Amino acid sequence: MDILRLSSHSEWIRSRESLPKGQRIGFVPTMGALHTGHLALVEQARETCDFVVASIFVNPTQFNNSEDFAAYPLDLENDLLALESAGCSAAYFPSVSEVYPHGAKSRAMDLGGLDTVLEGALRPGHFQGVATVVDRLFDLIQPDVAFFGQKDYQQVKVIERVAALRGGQPHIVACPIVREPHGLAMSSRNRRLSPTQREAAAAIFQALRFAEAELREFPVPPRALKLEMRRIIQESGVLQVESIDFALAHSLRPITDGEAYLDRYPEPVQAFVSAYAGEVRLIDTHRIVAEGHVPDSEV
Ligand code: PAF
Repeated sequence: MDILRLSSHSEWIRSRESLPKGQRIGFVPTMGALHTGHLALVEQARETCDFVVASIFVNPTQFNNSEDFAAYPLDLENDLLALESAGCSAAYFPSVSEVYPHGAKSRAMDLGGLDTVLEGALRPGHFQGVATVVDRLFDLIQPDVAFFGQKDYQQVKVIERVAALRGGQPHIVACPIVREPHGLAMSSRNRRLSPTQREAAAAIFQALRFAEAELREFPVPPRALKLEMRRIIQESGVLQVESIDFALAHSLRPITDGEAYLDRYPEPVQAFVSAYAGEVRLIDTHRIVAEGHVPDSEV
């Protein structure tokens, strides 16, 4: 079926009113430049919802670098075709003034500190921008369930917090990371990579998997592990590591002790990498210590 094209909130309200009562609305917020990872979110939404709306809105308040905002790829017609072929029911692509009637500014939301650690420390204000726009999009669409990719792991935590501040509405579903065959996590930014950079970028996931495999065997201290991961990523000479962080996977409390073994913590451990391939900033994440993990050397 043809996708419904909604460029304004009033069009969405009219469409929603024409739906049979009790339909479960699934929502996939995006900034466009869609890839297989986004379409996997739509597919997941279709499995549990009657009607799936995706939004396409490049949110100015979450960019702390105006060049990054200007360079963000726009591809509305292809995005609409991709959503349609994934079986998405409607696409909402609002104007900046509809999303931000009082000017494009972030609100200061109480995100419980989730916005200032890890990626938030590197990109001040970024998660306030994400929380502000997602909260506003939830107001406009009023979905029952919203779907987000776990590549942006910290973003998912922030959005779970936004939903909690809204009394648990909508229900948030975190979907697995979709990767290219050689391991690079799918991202809209990948289209800005040259073939050589794309090839080299596989080293990010290799380093994350290396960390997981090492920790399954030995209780390696975090400082030594990060050095090894950095070496793997930088070996190709194409990538420049910005940061490698470990954090408690549920609370997102960063692990700052470089010597205390990672299996000593009360939560599983998530690793986060950010690296540059030329001008393109890439991020990835992976669970490196699973819940209740005991290294083989201690069994
Ligand atoms: O993940 C994204 O594409 C964006 O951060 C989101 C959630 C659509 C908010 O602008």
